[in-house]
Amino acid sequence: MINITGLSKSYNKGSVKAVDNLNMHINHGEIFGFLGPNGAGKTTTIKMMIGLLNPDSGSIIINGHDIQKNPLDAKRSIGYVPDNPDVYDRLTGIEYLNFMADVYEVPADIRKERIKYFLDIFNLSDAASDLIKSYSHGMKQKIVITGALIHDPAVWILDEPMVGLDPKSAHLLKELMRKHCDKGNTVFFSTHVLEVAEKLCDRIGIIHKGKLIAVGTMDELRQGDSAGSLENIFLELTEK
Ligand SMILES: Nc1ncnc2c1ncn2[C@@H]1O[C@H](COP(=O)(O)OP(=O)(O)OP(=O)(O)O)[C@@H](O)[C@H]1O
Ligand SMILES: [Mg+2]
Repeated sequence: MINITGLSKSYNKGSVKAVDNLNMHINHGEIFGFLGPNGAGKTTTIKMMIGLLNPDSGSIIINGHDIQKNPLDAKRSIGYVPDNPDVYDRLTGIEYLNFMADVYEVPADIRKERIKYFLDIFNLSDAASDLIKSYSHGMKQKIVITGALIHDPAVWILDEPMVGLDPKSAHLLKELMRKHCDKGNTVFFSTHVLEVAEKLCDRIGIIHKGKLIAVGTMDELRQGDSAGSLENIFLELTEK
């Protein structure tokens, strides 16, 4: 569960209002897609949700924990994938995963099993002992996703997670997202790929110039216009 109330953030002493009084509630069992044009405020919102940026005002509750008042408990519930996979280049894949498992205090037997599972499905087993700096963009993305999920967090917060993934890996990730939510957990992710959002998400929010301009299921966003594709709805709303 994610609860965002009255969230605002400006940069450059208030000259850029990146997020403007945002209110969103994301339920257990829900995949929520966060859409918006470049510079709309998606990454800024996500960085506040995971405790990387302090809001100017407003509150964010993750799984019952306030990210500002109770950051450790909130962060334990979060799996975060940043918008680009710049990780510790001088570690090998397996060193990085063990580092993440240490940070999140994942017991040895459980981490071994999870690491094996993800390396297998993402086809990274052979590369695990190579330095991350030798990885392709997609391989880095997959090792970052694995590291983010190593502690089996309830709430996944993913900033454009499909970027750079090949079709099979993207398909796998979508399956993992659905399975995670079917168990009653929550996935919040940003994307520019509207076809993915349309097919995968239970609900969608569209942010534009820092303000949430639409939120709901695909049916609610269509508002009775049954032919409306998400692309049409998005273009119409963000060109106003
Ligand atoms: N560190 C920063 N300093 C100043 N302005 C910033 C900073 N980070 C973001 N901004 C501004 O805040 C606004 C929102 O940016 P943000 O990165 O949140 O957008 P986004 O929706 O994630 O865009 P994209 O789709 O391109 O990833 C933009 O106007 C951007 O220029
Ligand atoms: Mg962004």
